[in-house]
Amino acid sequence: MTDRYAVIGNPIAHSKSPLIHKLFGQQTGQDISYEAVLAPLDGFAATVERLRNEGYKGCNVTVPFKQSAYQLANRKQHLSFDVVHAHAANTLEFKSDGVHLHNTDGIGLIHDIQDNLGVYLRDKRVLLIGAGGAARGVISPLRLTGASITITNRTVDKAHDLAKRFVVSSCSYEELAGKSFDIVINATSSGLSDEMPPLPNGIFAPHALAYDMMYGKKTPFMKFAREQGAAIVSDGLGMLVEQAAESFFLWRGVRPDTRPVIEQLRKQQ
Ligand code: ATR
Repeated sequence: MTDRYAVIGNPIAHSKSPLIHKLFGQQTGQDISYEAVLAPLDGFAATVERLRNEGYKGCNVTVPFKQSAYQLANRKQHLSFDVVHAHAANTLEFKSDGVHLHNTDGIGLIHDIQDNLGVYLRDKRVLLIGAGGAARGVISPLRLTGASITITNRTVDKAHDLAKRFVVSSCSYEELAGKSFDIVINATSSGLSDEMPPLPNGIFAPHALAYDMMYGKKTPFMKFAREQGAAIVSDGLGMLVEQAAESFFLWRGVRPDTRPVIEQLRKQQ
């Protein structure tokens, strides 16, 4: 029998997750279906309940519900460490003993940076820009790689709060003057409005990786990184596919090969 999965979001029509999981299913011979489900902004928990009652095996959770998924946790749920650290979940497994919550965003980012882009994080100086949900989801996994993390954010107090909680460094944009980093990750939503964080010149060390967690367009951050001589400039499409692969693995116990899927999605961009 076909096992059913879904991604819940709002909006959701443009999600690439159904295509990614369809390709994973074909590649691994797993009999699954995967659809996009639009939940009302005040109806996340009810939508999860409906899917469970209809016999779905699990779901992904995307904007704006990743924090709502964490809040499901005060019911009878099972949390992974990544969820506890991020206060957000993107992968739910529906099991007989309750809902198991995971967050695969951080490991997805790390796989993309290390395996696909060939940049090792251990001992690297990493600048993480942003202090919203996207940033919070990746700090702890990044830190566990042995990288040294600095967080910066427009509202600097939010960066300081996160730094305290995760025991990493933080500073304002102004305080970045004169500093350089091996890996600079843009976890802000500034690219959506064609803006970029006000980074000083010289922020990219020689051989630096500039990584924008957004995908689907060249952001001003990516343009700036090229102009400033960053050696590798990447969008977040690989992270999207890697976090999906991690969800698929949790659900199915089979790890798909992400490379052909990333290549296929790139062709469609
Ligand atoms: P997400 O879940 O995508 O992280 P969010 O929680 O709303 O969304 O956080 C958005 C992040 O992008 C924040 O760090 C925000 O900075 P503030 O905390 O100062 O608001 C950052 N951001 C959004 N637009 C930005 C811009 N034009 N320049 C710099 N930072 C921006």
